[in-house]
Amino acid sequence: MLKLPGLIDPHVHVREPGQTHKEDWDSATQAALAGGVTMILAMPNTKPPIFDAATLDLALGAAKQKARCDYAQFVGAGPNNADILPALASKSAGLKMYLDSTFGELRLNDMTLWMPHFAKFPKDYPLVLHSESRTMAAGILFAAIYDRPVHIAHISLREEILLIRAAKERGIKVTCEVCPHHLFLTGEEPRMRVSGRTEVRPRLATQVDVDALWENLDVIDCFATDHAPHTVEEKDSENPPPGFPGLETLLPLLLTAVDDGRLTIDRIIEKSVLNPRKIFNLPEQSQTWIEIDENAEYEIHAVDQFTRCGWTPFEGWKVKGKVRKVVLRGKTAFQDGKILVEPRYGQNVRK
Ligand code: DOR
Ligand code: ZN
Repeated sequence: MLKLPGLIDPHVHVREPGQTHKEDWDSATQAALAGGVTMILAMPNTKPPIFDAATLDLALGAAKQKARCDYAQFVGAGPNNADILPALASKSAGLKMYLDSTFGELRLNDMTLWMPHFAKFPKDYPLVLHSESRTMAAGILFAAIYDRPVHIAHISLREEILLIRAAKERGIKVTCEVCPHHLFLTGEEPRMRVSGRTEVRPRLATQVDVDALWENLDVIDCFATDHAPHTVEEKDSENPPPGFPGLETLLPLLLTAVDDGRLTIDRIIEKSVLNPRKIFNLPEQSQTWIEIDENAEYEIHAVDQFTRCGWTPFEGWKVKGKVRKVVLRGKTAFQDGKILVEPRYGQNVRK
């Protein structure tokens, strides 16, 4: 049995308020616990989006009623809310800025709309950017100009990881995360090109990009799932929304990479516990750990998952390493496939 600290996932789409047929605070936090994740940071592109005091209260109210693991909620940058957000910073996980198009309504097209957020949001709370390719380069330039930390969400490209390495070497305050689907999947398999199940933002990249992420693992600060559940019916429809579930496959995939000699346990602890805690200024969870059977081999199947979305891009994959037990703040929260804590057990870590 391998014992690790509870993992932190800094990038989760809980879907509540507004789209609870995809997921809600109950199902998302059950999926988290089953995956060995004891703290999640929730994204603000809900319906309505979380962009002011009233909508933040809406999300935190639902979380308080339903969450089974610990959490914090991001606020989202909009065209007119830069003045009111600083007052909400201490209640939020941080500020999420959507600089490229993706699922939901929060999108800042014009760089003049970025400026007041960079200028005003308190520097001790992270600014998380959804920014791809050249937009990411612009985001890093903003970090340098405004002299404040930024965290780049879900990097996927060789050019991105190389630029982040160069920016870090120059002392620019930039950190980044990578998602399992960008480490383990490419968009190149013919099977992948046809189906809505391959739709995700950033898109699945090439083998060259995937190799570059693995070769530059030292530059990657965090693993994050970007758990973005859409139902299997939605994914298989004419208009498939982008996004993959990921909370329950994160750790088995990483442990399988350890077994393959591509990763170490220490790196998992660094990128899924220590660095997220530091970057997002999160408290240590006392008496919290997970127990793993490193030798358990099994196949990933959507029917075994707690997420409501009903599918996984890793269906049928053979993995090695199973979460047996999760202890959260002294209480066994998950054991051998069963969730053992009730809704309301989860705590807001920003209080
Ligand atoms: O694929 C994605 N889905 N990328 C995002 O950035 C948003 C997410 C979602 O909310 O569905
Ligand atoms: Zn996301």
